[in-house]
Order: sequence, then C-alpha cells, then structure tokens
Amino acid sequence: MTPSQFISTCTADAIDQAAANLRAGSLVAFPTETVYGLGADATNASAVARIYEVKGRPQDHPLIVHIASMNDMEKWCEEIPAYAISLARDFWPGPMTLILKRSRLAQDFITGGQESVGLRVPNHVLALALLNAFSKIGGAGIAAPSANRFGQVSPTTAEAVQEEIGNYLQSQDQIMDGGASHVGVESTIIDCTHELPRILRPGAITEEMIMDSTGLSLLENVDDVIRVSGSLENHYSPKAKVILNSTAKPGQGFIALADIATPEGVIRLAAPRDIDEYARLLYSALRLGDSQGISEIAVIAPIGEGLAVAIRDRLLRASRGR
Ligand code: TXA
Ligand code: MG
Repeated sequence: MTPSQFISTCTADAIDQAAANLRAGSLVAFPTETVYGLGADATNASAVARIYEVKGRPQDHPLIVHIASMNDMEKWCEEIPAYAISLARDFWPGPMTLILKRSRLAQDFITGGQESVGLRVPNHVLALALLNAFSKIGGAGIAAPSANRFGQVSPTTAEAVQEEIGNYLQSQDQIMDGGASHVGVESTIIDCTHELPRILRPGAITEEMIMDSTGLSLLENVDDVIRVSGSLENHYSPKAKVILNSTAKPGQGFIALADIATPEGVIRLAAPRDIDEYARLLYSALRLGDSQGISEIAVIAPIGEGLAVAIRDRLLRASRGR
C-alpha cells in the first residue's frame, strides 16, 4: 500500500495544505482539464528531481510550468512574440502549452538544458485554486508532467494516478481528486520561439483556432533538435498491443465510435458518441483493457479535423508499442 495521501474532498483548507506541501518540496498530483499532472515547485531542483524518479523519465526531457494566469508569464520567459500574447488571451486558462524563450527563473532542471520553457494555465477549478494558493505563499509556478510512468498512458482520473505512481510516492506527497478530466488528451503544444507559431503536439486547441487567433499561418512541424518526449514514437502505450484500423478479432478489446457495431466475440471498451467524448474516454478505455488483462486492443480511429487529429496522433504512437 502507498503511504501518500489521497485527497478526495478538496476543501479550501486541503488546497492550502497541498500548496504548502509543494512549497516545502513535496509532490502533489492534481487534476487538469486535459490529464492529471504530477506537480512540484518549479524553482526547487530537488523536488523536480523527484518527479523524474517517480516517473522514471530521462533527465533531459523538459517539463511544463503551470502558472495561475498569463500575468505570470513574464517571470518565466522573455521576448514574448505578439502572437503568443494573443494565444494566451484567447485560450488560457485552457488546453494549450506555449514554448517561449526562457528567463533565468527557468533553470536547466526544468528545461532539460534548452533555452526555451513550456508554460500553461490549466482550466480546472482545483488546478487554478492550487496555483493561486501556491502563488499566495510565494510560489512562482508548478512543474507538472502527466502523472504516469514514462511512456505509459496519461491518467485522466485520480484513481488512475494512484495506480500508476502511488507506489513511488512518499508520505508527504498527495493526490488530489478532481474527477475525470474533461478533455482527456494532453494540451496542444505550440512553439512560439520563431516568427510563426508551430504545433509540436496536437490537442484541443486546433490549427484553425491558432490561425484565427493569431492571423498567421503555421510553420510546418519539422523534426529538429527540440526534445518533446511526447513526440517519441513509442509513447502513450498501454500494456496491451494497440492495433489500429483493422477488423477486431474475437478476444480482442475494441474501441470505436458508437455507430460502429461491436464484432462478434470482441470486448467493447468504449463506444463514444462523438469526437469530444472519444478524447475524454480514450485513455480510461485503454486502461480498462489492461485491467481486464486483454492483450490486444483494436481501435478504429476517428476521421476528420479538430480533436480527431490529436486522437489519431496518440493512437498512432500507442500502436507502435513501446
Ligand atoms: O496537458 C498537458 O500538457 C499535461 C497537463 C498535466 O498539463 N502535461 C503534460 O506534460 O502532458 P508531459 O510532460 O507529459 O508532456 C509535456 C511535453 C513533453 O513532451 C515535453 O518534452 C514538452 O512538453 N516540453 C516541455 N517543455 C518543452 C520545451 N521547452 N520545449 C519543447 N518541448 C517541451
Ligand atoms: Mg506525458
């Protein structure tokens, strides 16, 4: 059993306590609208080092710094382009991470030694309450990757966090329960260090929304030296083998939109009615397959634009195994 604290009733007192624990160097897993994050004080090297230990993540992979509002951007970055301000105004709090030229506050242990830093204002009442409480006691930002072991499926519930990393947490660490994440896939990551914005990871903030907000076209997403661990080919993988877009065979798990019938002998893990619900259910459906000991999960990916792009991106990576 795990010695960490599972906070199912997040009262104002509980949130203040969690913020104080963070300031003192403990880890707090918290809900966001995308997926659950594993938080540490982003200015505390040893607290951040524990994130890497708990996740089993390589040291050179940078972390996103979560802030309470766009007013806190300037602490963490410099030379913010006008289009990034426009994006922040339009989509924060929300499922979007901006990559900007770092300030001195963003040290190598946050950026993986890169000259840029990832920033996000999440849109979840508990996350915002925690960030505000943390800010009140002098905290500048909360570093938080998705609260899963490296390479695994991101958790979208507090129970999934507990399953993933509960055994690696300590007695002063906490897991805050804020229900199931509404979006269900990780934030859109937008590189704002060039003249034009560039999507590094698709999410709920779509290409079209970015072009509308900024009035700019986007840079093509070419592979370069930027390290986005989520862009590793073998990411977002459940234990089961994910088989994309082929007919499901008896004994396999099956995930597809509700209007696609379940083939004979196949174990239906999710039947989302639309793309939004697909994103919301996807990770818990993959976890459900694992918990039932299913070794192969057949998935029919959604077609179309918007959030479907992000779902296909994650499914493609999941299908490449780890
Ligand atoms: O929705 C999300 O973004 C969630 C919630 C908790 O906020 N967080 C999340 O964090 O997905 P993580 O660490 O699992 O994925 C963040 C991705 C990583 O692939 C990392 O490499 C990339 O963001 N990243 C962070 N800082 C970066 C930087 N300075 N330059 C390029 N990529 C960066
Ligand atoms: Mg992750």
